[in-house]
Amino acid sequence: MLSVRELEAYYGRAHILSGVGLEVARGEVVVLLGRNGAGKSTTLKAIMGLVRPAGGTVTFQGRRIERLAPHAIARLGLGYVPEDRRVFPSLSVAENLEVGRQPPRAGRPVWTPEAIFELFPNLAELRGRPAGRISGGEQQMLTIGRTLMGNPALLLLDEPSEGLAPVIVEQMAATIRALKAEGLAVLLSEQNLRFATEVADRATIIEKGRIRYRGAMADLAADEEVRRAYLTV
Ligand SMILES: Nc1ncnc2c1ncn2[C@@H]1O[C@H](COP(=O)(O)OP(=O)(O)OP(=O)(O)O)[C@@H](O)[C@H]1O
Ligand SMILES: [Mg+2]
Repeated sequence: MLSVRELEAYYGRAHILSGVGLEVARGEVVVLLGRNGAGKSTTLKAIMGLVRPAGGTVTFQGRRIERLAPHAIARLGLGYVPEDRRVFPSLSVAENLEVGRQPPRAGRPVWTPEAIFELFPNLAELRGRPAGRISGGEQQMLTIGRTLMGNPALLLLDEPSEGLAPVIVEQMAATIRALKAEGLAVLLSEQNLRFATEVADRATIIEKGRIRYRGAMADLAADEEVRRAYLTV
């Protein structure tokens, strides 16, 4: 469904991504793991067109997208939730969802606010409240819900577990499994290996802008040497 090949990216003259490649198949959850500054967010931004790749290709559902603008990429069915989880603070929870609404598209799950409130029951009770007055974890869920309102076929999530209380991390893991069950493909970045183990089918490890490992999540979870080399501090 998504195929990234030989991706190169720079910030100014700093070479950030070197030959990054990864694949996400239909209905699959893939995690991009790596330490702080490894290039996880840059990879997701380059896929989404927010960082213009200097080389390489990004193919989504058979279409080359590496030269398209972010809004055009979104329209093709890629949903992106950045790590800074911005909500519109003065709009209500329900209004924040409406901001993300896009027309339904054939072959993709169709989301309504009611379906999103089923996915995130906490948000249902808060639907009338200004989004600036809900917790950080609830805001994280709201940004995911708002992105789902665009009816994406593939969701890019940048560190969805970051900064969440343990009980909310568990809810987030359950949510990602539920999205997979709805037929959505997910590419997420993470540093939390335990969370990744709970949600991902396959793992890719990035270090200093290069891919160091690819494998089944279960194999990585059992491979202490790789984990120690690229993940733990
Ligand atoms: N806007 C920017 N301008 C210049 N350098 C940047 C910019 N954003 C990120 N970088 C640098 O690019 C490298 C990769 O950053 P990136 O944000 O992709 O890492 P990351 O894996 O997402 O890290 P984290 O886990 O901290 O979110 C880092 O060295 C970072 O300092
Ligand atoms: Mg990041």
